Amino acid sequence: MKSVIVAVSVTVLMMGSKLIDSNSAFLFKDQNKYIIVIHGGVGTISREMPDSIKEDYLRSLSEALTIGKTILHNGGTSLDAVEQVVKFLENDPKFNAGKGAVYTSEGTHELDASIMDGRDLSCGAVAGVRTIKNPISLARLVMEKTSHVLLVGEGAETFGKKMNVQLVPNNYFDTPKRFEQWQKAIQKETKGTVGCVALDIHGNLAAATSTGGVVNKIPGRVGDSPIIGAGTYADNLTCAVSCSGKGELFIKHSVAYNISALMKYKNYSLNDAAEEMIHNYITEGDGGLIAVDKNGNYAIVYNTTGMFRGIANSEGIFEIKIWD
Ligand code: GLY
Repeated sequence: MKSVIVAVSVTVLMMGSKLIDSNSAFLFKDQNKYIIVIHGGVGTISREMPDSIKEDYLRSLSEALTIGKTILHNGGTSLDAVEQVVKFLENDPKFNAGKGAVYTSEGTHELDASIMDGRDLSCGAVAGVRTIKNPISLARLVMEKTSHVLLVGEGAETFGKKMNVQLVPNNYFDTPKRFEQWQKAIQKETKGTVGCVALDIHGNLAAATSTGGVVNKIPGRVGDSPIIGAGTYADNLTCAVSCSGKGELFIKHSVAYNISALMKYKNYSLNDAAEEMIHNYITEGDGGLIAVDKNGNYAIVYNTTGMFRGIANSEGIFEIKIWD
């Protein structure tokens, strides 16, 4: 069996991305193996938080994870799983994405999101959108319905209208919690982002990330979440990654792509690659990431006090955590 896998891998490399889908499916489909990891952001998350708030977070993460796990368990695609999980988290005001997006310095909201399909490196992203209820779904439409990767601002909104996605007034994203946070401009607690990575039973990897960005940002500021290779990356030959933290650092160091590159060119394990990027390139307290690889391994690495996260797989693991 081992020699068959090696031969198939060589074929994939020689014949180009179209074959990745069918060949990687051959590698994994008999195993019915899937894995999904989600995150709801990193930051200074106090262990002293009231039980009721903690339970609220855990319940939301558990619901999100169940949505993704059910899709994968029923043979659905990793792409559908990551989109639906992120969409659910976007609709939850607790997380800094979609409904819970932070305020800009002008008291508005500007949202970013991206999605990537590891089968053929297809990807789509939107940045600086103000009236799109679910930016992750618009990012998927950019991927599937245009020849572009990233649409921003008004152009993205116009495309959204054309695609009949749900539009909302910008004040739909107003929430008391984010207003208070904006007033206090507590920068250190504003690394919220949501994301999901998954491997499906067909052997395909996908990643999705969505955010409201950083609180009090200058309108027009774009972080790592909609930048393919910075906050999001997926390649069936290596891994799928979704990041959370100070976006500027993740852009400078192309964190998500570099994890894939370390695996591809330097033979790093997923965990070693993730540790390398977070601990050597992201300053202490500024970020974290979730990742899964083509063999069903996962990595959750952060240098903040906590990360809202969950993991489920075909072996029956189902875990939700905030701290170590
Ligand atoms: N990581 C989210 C942002 O910086 O916008």
